[in-house]
Amino acid sequence: MKKKIIFSGIQPTGLLTLGNYIGALKQWQELQKKYFCIYCIADLHSLTIHQKKSILSKNILDILAMCLACGINPEKSIIFIQSHVPQHSQLNWILNCFTNFGEIQRMIQFKEKIFLNKNINVGVFNYPILMAADILLYQTNKVPVGKDQIQHIELTRNIASRFNKIYGNIFTIPEKILNYNGACIKSLINPNKKMSKSDFNKNNIISLFDNDFIIEQKIKNAITDSNYPPIIKYDLKNKPGISNLLVILSNITKCSIKRLEKDFQNKNYNYFKKSIINNLCLFLNRLRKKYFFYRENEKYLKSIIINGAEKAKKYADITLQKVTNVIGLDI
Ligand code: TRP
Repeated sequence: MKKKIIFSGIQPTGLLTLGNYIGALKQWQELQKKYFCIYCIADLHSLTIHQKKSILSKNILDILAMCLACGINPEKSIIFIQSHVPQHSQLNWILNCFTNFGEIQRMIQFKEKIFLNKNINVGVFNYPILMAADILLYQTNKVPVGKDQIQHIELTRNIASRFNKIYGNIFTIPEKILNYNGACIKSLINPNKKMSKSDFNKNNIISLFDNDFIIEQKIKNAITDSNYPPIIKYDLKNKPGISNLLVILSNITKCSIKRLEKDFQNKNYNYFKKSIINNLCLFLNRLRKKYFFYRENEKYLKSIIINGAEKAKKYADITLQKVTNVIGLDI
């Protein structure tokens, strides 16, 4: 049977956190076992916030090297840079004309951005439609995303169904896959909030580049609770700090949360944190070793970029051709 198609994207916007690893890249790697995976470095999306030329191109290579370090296999999957496949922008325009103004005005991320800054560019408005183009170009079956992107997947489904209703079955209607590795890694100090790389209090986040000393400080400072006796148990509602730390430890050690709860029965928080620090340092040092191996080999990275774009274009073009044909642009 033909493998189902997975598509997802990540923006090249600076340093990655442990949240990005557990919430996205780790899952991307795992999905390769079962699916045909297409992963995109969404550089066009990242233009909605202006970045310096040298920084953007560096970020793109950084993120590509990190994807490879996390086990994305370019022999098996396609990994490519969005702007290198012009079909994304082409389909984007066509889909603009099949999207209602009001639909986009209802997007939560857009509303939040407008609320924070009235002076935003049209790219921010258009953003979810470009995302729909990304997904629909590859006849995607499933899209792994974080919670904040669910509404964009719903929009993608609506645009695709609307188009299909008029022109026949041109697009596969995609489904979302929510992260199963513990949904969302939370901030260390405020475990009710997502761990976000844009957080300005850096004690809230673990960067994949934090050294052993910093990791130790940050985990020591992470919020737990003052329950007595201390219990190491997954309970999101009553013990959000401990639950977050359990999710982190489980993801970097491959031990289930149940197993960890057993191992840490009758142990105090200090002991628990020491184990997290040791495992996290070990894990990140290994990951970084792989990362630098790829990052320092720009020739290899460039070859992955060229190959990826070539493969992606082949698939993207089949869909784009169908679309231009049914709407009457092919003469
Ligand atoms: N908007 C996504 C994010 O910021 C990244 C992205 C771009 C994406 N295109 C996509 C995710 C297509 C899934 C599918 O997280």
